[in-house]
Amino acid sequence: MALAAVIGLSWSSNLSLLPSPSIPSRLSKRSVNSSSSSSSSVVVKGAISLEKEKEKKIFSLEKSEEIFNAAKDLMPGGVNSPVRAFKSVGGQPIVFDSVKGSHMWDVDGNKYIDYVGSWGPAIIGHADDKVNAALIETLKKGTSFGAPCLLENILAEMVISAMPSIEMVRFVNSGTEACMGALRLARAFTGRQKIIKFEGCYHGHADSFLVKAGSGIATLGLPDSPGVPKGATSDTLTSPINDIETIKSLFDAHKGEIAAVILEPVVGNAGFITPKSGFLDALREITKQNNALLIFDEVMTGFRLAYGGAQEYFNILPDLTTLGKIIGGGLPVGAYGGRKEIMEMVAPSGPMYQAGTLSGNPLAMTAGIHTLRRLKEPGCYDYLDKVTGELIGGILDAGKKAGHEISGGYIRGMFGFFFAAGPVDNFEHAKKSDTAKFARFHRGMLEEGIYLAPSQFEAGFTSLAHTSKDIEMTVEAAAKVLQRI
Ligand SMILES: Cc1ncc(COP(=O)(O)O)c(C=O)c1O
Repeated sequence: MALAAVIGLSWSSNLSLLPSPSIPSRLSKRSVNSSSSSSSSVVVKGAISLEKEKEKKIFSLEKSEEIFNAAKDLMPGGVNSPVRAFKSVGGQPIVFDSVKGSHMWDVDGNKYIDYVGSWGPAIIGHADDKVNAALIETLKKGTSFGAPCLLENILAEMVISAMPSIEMVRFVNSGTEACMGALRLARAFTGRQKIIKFEGCYHGHADSFLVKAGSGIATLGLPDSPGVPKGATSDTLTSPINDIETIKSLFDAHKGEIAAVILEPVVGNAGFITPKSGFLDALREITKQNNALLIFDEVMTGFRLAYGGAQEYFNILPDLTTLGKIIGGGLPVGAYGGRKEIMEMVAPSGPMYQAGTLSGNPLAMTAGIHTLRRLKEPGCYDYLDKVTGELIGGILDAGKKAGHEISGGYIRGMFGFFFAAGPVDNFEHAKKSDTAKFARFHRGMLEEGIYLAPSQFEAGFTSLAHTSKDIEMTVEAAAKVLQRI
């Protein structure tokens, strides 16, 4: 998830203007309805008690608040990954109890249609029955071997046959690890140090990637976070996305020094930003000319834009690819892969060291295998295209009807929209969107039982479990909220 989303950038700091967010009114209706079976104990207390009880339910995320308040004493900010703390949209985060299909239930019993999908993995729907059954079978054999197992071969073969540019793959435990490994490998293979990344692209939290871009022009990177040594980022060059001229000038200024260019081929960590026509081809060309590697970070787009990821969708072959999220089917996994001649530099085939106690874990491999099997069935990506198109079309229409400046788009199971007239072609454009309005929209949608990513700078995700009814309810909710924000 994007650093911008995580740290609640200053342009979204107008949250004091928001209505008190802690008590969504619509949740009450759902709470009252869903608690009807438990209301008998209330009835015996008499009418006044019943009213009081209803009132309490109406304005309560009681258990969520209780648990999150306790969490704040136990874990930094009460969370184990910063964007979950709702800093960008304000209000208290919701604590969840269970997920199934396209839905999530919080600890107070409120039900939501989910468009976060655990930040991407849940593309076939949460807690899929077949994935769960397979996990139980694997579990019976043990949770971790720390040694080779057949399941690794099966998932590796699936990934290699799906991803056009991957001939060999190394499994790790997260997208961060995958990007870290790919970067080390690019440096090892080329014998060069410098890399180019794009503003607004997130490649995990490894030191070299935590670089803030300078405004407008490409700059030498300075660390985004205290604790990142300047030395770790001084070889990280940055450029706005969709700006091939800056890339050309960086290659000119650093002849023979650039190991790789890394990017999210569709940027999901600055909202939803697609590559302009010809941009990816131009990147492929210029990296080839300069003997630098092109790395597609497909942690988000892999198996989401197409079974073969963005590289299949846009028909561009990168040298290295990073994966995560979907290939673990909700369990912790990452992977990096590419041409054999490059991958064979990785230990123990070659000298580039990278290892992992739990890498290739049988449970994670199992969830990945069964998720990919489902995605391979005919019609999956057409279905994602259809539901996501209806969703984003409905939201944009409703927004325009309500008089808002709003723009957005989608590809298959990934979408995004900005409270900005658009087009949004880079992170600077994205930052000009009305983040305070997004915060109000987000809170309003929560009240309507719709769970969106808690930041304007995060893409949304649909799944095979989202029905036309889900989309209809979401668009109706959006129309209502857009009228009043
Ligand atoms: C494109 C991209 N790369 C890398 C990462 C890091 O993955 P992880 O959170 O699994 O470490 C993310 C996470 O959201 C991502 O979206």
